[in-house]
Amino acid sequence: MHLQPKYSPEAPSSIFSYGTSAREPAAGTIARDHVRPHDLLHTGSINGALADSFPFQITAEDLQRGRERFNIYCSPCHGYSGYGDGIIVQRGFLSPPSYHTDRLRQAPAGHFFNVITNGFGRMYPYADRVSVEDRWRIVAYIRALQLSQQAGPSDLTDSDFNRLEHQP
Ligand code: HEC
Repeated sequence: MHLQPKYSPEAPSSIFSYGTSAREPAAGTIARDHVRPHDLLHTGSINGALADSFPFQITAEDLQRGRERFNIYCSPCHGYSGYGDGIIVQRGFLSPPSYHTDRLRQAPAGHFFNVITNGFGRMYPYADRVSVEDRWRIVAYIRALQLSQQAGPSDLTDSDFNRLEHQP
């Protein structure tokens, strides 16, 4: 059992000219998980600086999906409205900062993308659970949450304002 008539990887061999059982990868071969694209979609940055723009047009469906993903992955700590008062925090976990501070309201979209991708301080990364596109959808939803806590009557369209005025 211990000795079998087969080659283990990198075992000595006289078959190939370089003397081992494993073939060398073709010149220029890159391991799949070593591909690190440098574009806005994958880094949240443009020319090394965190960007305040999105790599694709955000639609109403994207926002819906962002809300769903946020509620699944982020709300347990950050709370449904982003005040940092999620259920895990209520049970004693470290409280994250509210999204409704001046600092995080002014932080570029790329900062949020980066925090989700790489983690931040004691928050662990979500890159293995949330796809690149979904991370941007979550960022868009956080922007909507931030706006929702600051919005006044003048932010409404005339027809929405009228609907609000005539609500029973
Ligand atoms: C298990 C709890 C937990 C979950 C789940 C979680 N976070 Fe956090 N988050 C934290 C904590 C704690 C901090 C503060 C970390 C620190 O300062 O050391 C934080 C910080 C942040 C910050 C602020 C960074 C800054 O500049 O201060 C952002 C933005 C953020 N999280 C976004 C997210 C998003 C988006 C998700 C969902 C994909 C998420 N977090 C999921 C616990 C969590």
